[in-house]
Amino acid sequence: MTDQITIRRPDDWHVHLRDGDMLKAVAHYTARQFARAIVMPNLSPPVTTSAQAGAYRDRILAALPADSDFQPLMTCYLTDSADADDIAAGFAAGIFTAAKLYPANATTNSAHGVTDVANIQSVLGRMQDIGMPLLIHGEVTDSDIDIFDREAVFIERTLKDLIAGFPELKVVFEHITTQQAVQFVDQAGPNVAATITPHHLHINRNAMFQGGMRPHAYCLPVAKREQHRLALRQAATSGSSKYFLGTDSAPHEIHAKESACGCAGIFNAPYAMESYAAVFEEEGALDHLEAFASINGPQFYGLPLNEDMVTLHRSETEIPDILPAAGTSIVPFQSGESLVWRLATA
Ligand code: DOR
Ligand code: ZN
Repeated sequence: MTDQITIRRPDDWHVHLRDGDMLKAVAHYTARQFARAIVMPNLSPPVTTSAQAGAYRDRILAALPADSDFQPLMTCYLTDSADADDIAAGFAAGIFTAAKLYPANATTNSAHGVTDVANIQSVLGRMQDIGMPLLIHGEVTDSDIDIFDREAVFIERTLKDLIAGFPELKVVFEHITTQQAVQFVDQAGPNVAATITPHHLHINRNAMFQGGMRPHAYCLPVAKREQHRLALRQAATSGSSKYFLGTDSAPHEIHAKESACGCAGIFNAPYAMESYAAVFEEEGALDHLEAFASINGPQFYGLPLNEDMVTLHRSETEIPDILPAAGTSIVPFQSGESLVWRLATA
C-alpha cells in the first residue's frame, strides 16, 4: 500500500476568495494547498475591468501570510457591455488570465452576467484571436427548466453554438456535474476542457436531504444523481488531459448557509488535496492525481508547470466541525469526517 505520494505542487483552476475580512480569513487555506489559483470575479460589484482586477489582486496578496509565494490569477467578469479593448489590454499586461461567463442570475452575484451570448460576440472573437481562455458557468437560467437539467440544457442551447461559432476559442467548462458534460468535453477538440470539484466527486444529490435539509451540501451547479457522480469520477481519474482541478471553494458564513434561503457554495479549500486524493485512491488511480492536479491545468492555460513538489502522507486527517472566520464561522466540506491523506506543510 502506498503511504506517501509526491507530486508537483498543484494549482486550483477555480476558487472564490471573496474580499475584505472574509478574504483575510480564507486566502491562507488556498495558499497552503496550491501554488496558483484562478480567482473568480463575482464580487459585489463584480470585477469587470483590468483596473479592478489589478486592485483586487493587490488585496489578495496583502491578505496572504508574509512568507507566501501564492500567485492569484485574475479573471474578468463578462457583462453585456464588456469592453474587448480593456480585456485584451489586461490579458497582454498579465493582469487577466481568463474571462468568466456567468449567464445572468445563474448563481451568487451573477445579476450582472451576460443575458445573451449574442451580446458578447466581439469580445469572444477577440479572446479567440489572442488565446485568452473563456471560463463558463454552464447552466441555463430559464425558469421552465428543472434545476437538475440546467447544465445538460445549457450544452444544447448555448454551448454547442458558442463553440461552433468560435472553434479556436479556449473554453473551460467549469465545475461540471453531469454525464452529458463529460460526453461533450470528451468529444470536443483540444481547446475544450473542464474543471471538476472535490464535492461533485464525493456527493450526489441525496447529500442535500440526508435525514433532513443539509444546506452545507448545496452549491451551484447542484449535485446530480449517482450516475453523474460516477461519470465525473471516471473522467477526473482517467488521465485525460481535458480534466483538471478546480475546487470551486465558495465560503459563506454559517448563518448565510443555515437560513430559510441559504446561499449556494461549499467551502472545501482547507482540505482540498486530501479530499481529491481520497477519490483517486478509491478509484485506483493515484498515479493520475498529479496530471489532474498539477499538469493538465497549466498545459491548457499555456503556463509553466510548478517546479516544486509536495507530499501527501497516509495519515488520518480530522476535518473540524467549524472554522472561525471573519468574526463568525464557516462549515467546511466534509466537516466532522476524517480523511486518510494529509498534505505535508511546507
Ligand atoms: O455554489 C456556488 N457558489 N456556485 C457558484 O457558481 C458561485 C459560488 C459562490 O460564489 O458562492
Ligand atoms: Zn465558482
